[in-house]
Amino acid sequence: MMMQIPGVLTPDETAAIRDAMLAADWVDGNVTSGRQSALAKRNRQLPEDSAVVRDMGGHILDALGRTPLFVAAALPVKVFPPLFNRYGVGEGFGDHIDNAIRFRAGSDFRLRSDLSATLFLNDPDDYDGGELVAEGMPPVKLPAGHLVLYPATTVHRVTPVTRGERIASFFWIQSMVRDGAARALLLDLDRSIQDLGARTGQDDPAIVRLTGVYHNLLRRWAEL
Ligand code: NI
Repeated sequence: MMMQIPGVLTPDETAAIRDAMLAADWVDGNVTSGRQSALAKRNRQLPEDSAVVRDMGGHILDALGRTPLFVAAALPVKVFPPLFNRYGVGEGFGDHIDNAIRFRAGSDFRLRSDLSATLFLNDPDDYDGGELVAEGMPPVKLPAGHLVLYPATTVHRVTPVTRGERIASFFWIQSMVRDGAARALLLDLDRSIQDLGARTGQDDPAIVRLTGVYHNLLRRWAEL
């Protein structure tokens, strides 16, 4: 399931991150690629260990923590510190699947990538092409500050940019609930409880029991 999460960053936050990024030193995007994806990838990235990446990434992690839809949909146990890329004219990323296990150089941080995320940092009007196309899902290209989440198990690509430049942050999430179908059921149940609770009040006995069912399912399925 692909999910769009609007307004993760405000326009001011997005502009501040974009300005800091554009002033930094960029390297070839293949620094984070596996062997197959290196053949398909043409873009630039900020070095993973740079101060600007740590600082901007920290702001994004804070913003994710304040976004209830992200937390409910991803049920994150770990989020890879966000990385940043840009695609200019003629650059793109052909079909690939993201690595299953991501390590962070120079640390013992590692994560199983259950979900992949792209946070768009400039507006669709700024460039042509640069769409994220994941197998079996419609192409996406979102306004600045909006996030797309999709299963890391899917073949996907970024179509070549033909005008302007596409600027984004990307990262991976290890979910407490590894199975995407189980995660989708929990999200559906969570949203239904919120909707019903808004109509009947959270102290309605049926809402209390349904909330218990949500937590008891999460208790069965969660791995921390
Ligand atoms: Ni990818």
